[in-house]
Amino acid sequence: MRGYIHHISTVEVVGDLSENDPRRPRGAWSKPALLLSIIVAELAKSESERLDWIFWFDADTIVMNPHTPLEIFLPSESIAELSNVHLLMPSNWDGLNSGAFAMRVHPWSVSLLSAVLAYPVYLPRKLEKERFRDQSAFQWLLQARDSPLTKLGMGGRENWVEVPMRWFNSLPINNAFSRGWDWIFNHNMTDELFDKGTDEVYDDGNGKKIQPWKIMQGDMVLHCAGASNVRDSWMEGWLRRAESYLPEWSNATKREDLKIEVENFWSNIIRFTKRLLKVKGLSITI
Ligand SMILES: *[C@@H]1O[C@H](CO)[C@@H](O)[C@H](O)[C@H]1NC(C)=O
Ligand SMILES: *[C@@H]1O[C@H](CO)[C@@H](O)[C@H](O)[C@H]1NC(C)=O
Repeated sequence: MRGYIHHISTVEVVGDLSENDPRRPRGAWSKPALLLSIIVAELAKSESERLDWIFWFDADTIVMNPHTPLEIFLPSESIAELSNVHLLMPSNWDGLNSGAFAMRVHPWSVSLLSAVLAYPVYLPRKLEKERFRDQSAFQWLLQARDSPLTKLGMGGRENWVEVPMRWFNSLPINNAFSRGWDWIFNHNMTDELFDKGTDEVYDDGNGKKIQPWKIMQGDMVLHCAGASNVRDSWMEGWLRRAESYLPEWSNATKREDLKIEVENFWSNIIRFTKRLLKVKGLSITI
């Protein structure tokens, strides 16, 4: 897409210490390991030669709108207040979602990824109880009160930001559960389930309220998260749609709206951070 450098990986690079459940592939733990290796290699280059940011996309993501430049989402280099922000991670009803996120080539990222990678080794009991793997590690490290990261400064919040799902991690569904707590992602795709990317939503019995993570026409990336047993059935239709480059999906004009939305988002973050610093009486000048 758009001439970006791609690193595509199909190998599992971690051992039994990280994942000892033979039913679970090690891909989830290979992810922080691979990212770590790329970021460390970039940091070893001179500043003018290295990449600034890396976007991670899980294998169950599809680019729906190739006209959206990745740079559009990043905090502007010219805004000093945002120079400490090194991670953009979307969140939904399950909390942070590590299926698609952006990370700055920075020593902070190396430390965070090392901690994620160490998580299954240091906290295997916790992991057994948790539903997600690397995602649970990110969630705990970035958000839990007893995490070593949140004990620092502003609870670590100065270094990462929760961003809207629809920036680069839209979901193919409005609600994951239907009214009877049926997990919709367990069903094969049907015409009715195949979201149109408009305000018209699948009648799941929960009303028609549009959720902020549901894909809309012109969104950049779809993430078929959750559909593990029937993933092919979900991805097939969406892949076909992506490859058709329909004007309402592959929409170059969309980025103008997005640019304004993203600028407003960052302005609000700066305002919020300044207020937080004041409340905490911290003397960090941003
Ligand atoms: C989904 O479709 C496949 C292929 O037609 C079928 O084998 C499978 O049993 C279906 N799964 C569900 C959950 O309906
Ligand atoms: C493309 O996006 C713009 C801006 O959101 C919108 O006004 C326009 O209708 C879209 N084009 C199509 C063909 O949907």
